[in-house]
Amino acid sequence: MDAHIANRSRLTRRGLLASGAAVAAGALAAPAEAQAAPQGSAVEPFHGPHQAGIATTPQANAVFVGLDLRDGVGREAVARMMRLLSDDARRLTQGSPALADTEPELAVLPARLTVTFGFGPGLFSATGLEDARPASVEPLPRLSIDKLEPRWNGGDVLVQICADDPLALAHALRMIIKDARAFTRVRWIQRGFRRAAGVQDPKLTQHNIMGQLDGTANPVPGTPVFEQVVWAGGDAPVWLHGGTTLVLRRIRAELETWDAADRVAKEFTVGRRLDTGAPLTGTAEHDPPDFAKLTPVGFPVISEYAHIRRAHSTDPAKGIFRRVYNYDEGLSAAGHADSGLLFASFQADVTAQFLPIQRRLAEADLLNEWTTPIGSAVFAIPPGCPPGGWIGQSLLT
Ligand code: HEM
Repeated sequence: MDAHIANRSRLTRRGLLASGAAVAAGALAAPAEAQAAPQGSAVEPFHGPHQAGIATTPQANAVFVGLDLRDGVGREAVARMMRLLSDDARRLTQGSPALADTEPELAVLPARLTVTFGFGPGLFSATGLEDARPASVEPLPRLSIDKLEPRWNGGDVLVQICADDPLALAHALRMIIKDARAFTRVRWIQRGFRRAAGVQDPKLTQHNIMGQLDGTANPVPGTPVFEQVVWAGGDAPVWLHGGTTLVLRRIRAELETWDAADRVAKEFTVGRRLDTGAPLTGTAEHDPPDFAKLTPVGFPVISEYAHIRRAHSTDPAKGIFRRVYNYDEGLSAAGHADSGLLFASFQADVTAQFLPIQRRLAEADLLNEWTTPIGSAVFAIPPGCPPGGWIGQSLLT
């Protein structure tokens, strides 16, 4: 073997076995970086008072993973796991490989990757911290519209991973699951998407899979209303301050019967136009709906049972923040569309904010004809962490 080859094989072996993946990645990162488009190298901050992936402008792809703690995994082990997973998230979101990353090249273009963690009701009992569980972090009360399938419900730990690139997302998922495996089992995994990155200004409201502009009346990140609606403070347990709660509902869209409805019926159902998203009483998307306006023959222009009337909170502080993804799993075994929304709702408190809205919708909402909740899970979302800290520290130490 000539000296040059011997040298190279020694270097390779050292790179792979001795010096660790981070060094190997350092050597391998350059080509991907050189080819990066601005969207590929875009980074969302990991550290801060709040976790990323909530106020973050929604990325194109999302995966929500529900994990269950293995038997015997208690407070100390959960803390160990959260240290590990926070470290993975910190590195991967900044475009660096995780420790012992098996495919470090895949970490180089994070494409606005965020990793957000949540704690389900079972985590509090398993860790002996039942007293610290926010009262509303429990399964939602049974709703008449629910056709819940056990395979989409519950979970002790939530990991929400979002990115503008499906490969960056898949890699982060694989690294996180690898490190969570000793402590947890995967209970469910739900994949969602919005418009592909670059197709539309991500700050604009997007159409959902039912063809509606979805997100118009959402509180806007950075405004006082958003801060009030989303971040827990005041009466919430102190460890949760700066955090929030997530209700994740898997809502099937009955696309075949929806397709059979005409445009007028579809717009009447929601109370907004399909093209502009304008309320039926206005002309532009952000015109405030006039719920009092009547037709010439005396009927409300926006129906008593229109989705936006039923969902509207008169007190903006009692609203919710919807960060919604579409899902489309093709066709069911029976040949029907298996599509809908991963309806992710963030709010400081589930009972005070989400539940009254959900109850009004369950009671009467024209949209119920075409939507069926098939999954439901509730999580406390801990606050963010400073450099050197980890997610969940305020609860688990
Ligand atoms: C598949 C199910 C659903 C679809 C397709 C859907 C669609 C929509 C659409 C098109 C709008 C109007 C535009 C906008 O402001 O975003 C809207 C508004 C809204 N939706 Fe939904 N939605 C669904 C489920 C839910 C659920 C489960 C909740 C809460 C429990 C909810 C709460 C709201 C709220 C609060 C608004 C804003 C109301 C206002 O104008 O103040 N939606 N939704």
